[in-house]
Amino acid sequence: MEIINRRQRMSSVARKIRREQDRTIGLVPTMGALHEGHLSLVREARRMCDVVVVSVFVNPTQFGPSEDYEDYPRDLTKDTALLTDYNVDYIFAPAAEEIYPKDFSTYVNVGGLSKLLEGESRPGHFRGVATVVAILLNTVRPDFAFFGQKDAQQAVIIKRMVRDLAFDTEIVVSPTVREDSGLAISSRNLYLDAEEQQSAAVIHRALKQAKEIYKKGERHAARLAETVRATIETEPRVRVDYVSVVDAETLEKLDKLDERPVLVAVAAYVGKTRLIDNTMLNKAKKDAATTKG
Ligand code: PAJ
Repeated sequence: MEIINRRQRMSSVARKIRREQDRTIGLVPTMGALHEGHLSLVREARRMCDVVVVSVFVNPTQFGPSEDYEDYPRDLTKDTALLTDYNVDYIFAPAAEEIYPKDFSTYVNVGGLSKLLEGESRPGHFRGVATVVAILLNTVRPDFAFFGQKDAQQAVIIKRMVRDLAFDTEIVVSPTVREDSGLAISSRNLYLDAEEQQSAAVIHRALKQAKEIYKKGERHAARLAETVRATIETEPRVRVDYVSVVDAETLEKLDKLDERPVLVAVAAYVGKTRLIDNTMLNKAKKDAATTKG
């Protein structure tokens, strides 16, 4: 395994793999502080691709001014040890100046989608995400790039960007990995104490309940959302930011649910920590997970 810090070195290594060795490349973009969620993506990349590149980069442009960019957990030594166990070929861990050179001035804005849900509470967040992912895709030019369903809106936005801007990479989305309690694993769970973690598990219970009542025939988006909200609010430590029932592709709010895949997305605060989670209803069975640009 090699750790690469320079964009140019990363590009030339990847170019050689593609041209001279004719091997496929999988990219797993991360911000480090790796956990089982990230590792499930690495496993999938290992399974599907000849060469696996994991990027570890805490991307400044996707954090708002009052968010946790400075405090975000960073431990490249620990991350490297984990990735060695997973037989990763390259870690791309650039410094911020390497990704954003002086006078950097070109951003990718995936219109519409970026303003909804998380975008409402985090203006500029998805512009930062789309921009850094575009830079990573252009640097590595992977055959496949791997993302988690945990960040459902992010996955939808990246798929749209890849389609619209004709990136030659297939986006693969993997299921959310959870604690035994059902709490979706997240680097930000580190901010929660044991009791808060226990309370936060209510979010997943509420989403499971939505799935059940949907199965029983509930087709009113507002009633589903209200059930989820009410269940979460039984936990005094958890404060709902939003519960949204939206079209899984366009992220538009739905009123009545039909055969289209539906995303039920939740954001909630536990103390000062903002957590997100989601579930899909009516998920398309075939080819739901991938799109090629
Ligand atoms: P980060 O939060 O480190 O997550 C990296 C990837 O891991 C994302 O695709 C995310 O959806 C996935 N992931 C996180 N928790 C997961 C879980 N419990 N189960 C399954 N997948 C999970 O998302 C980012 O970084 C950044 O926005 C990034 C895409 C790297 C751009 O900076």
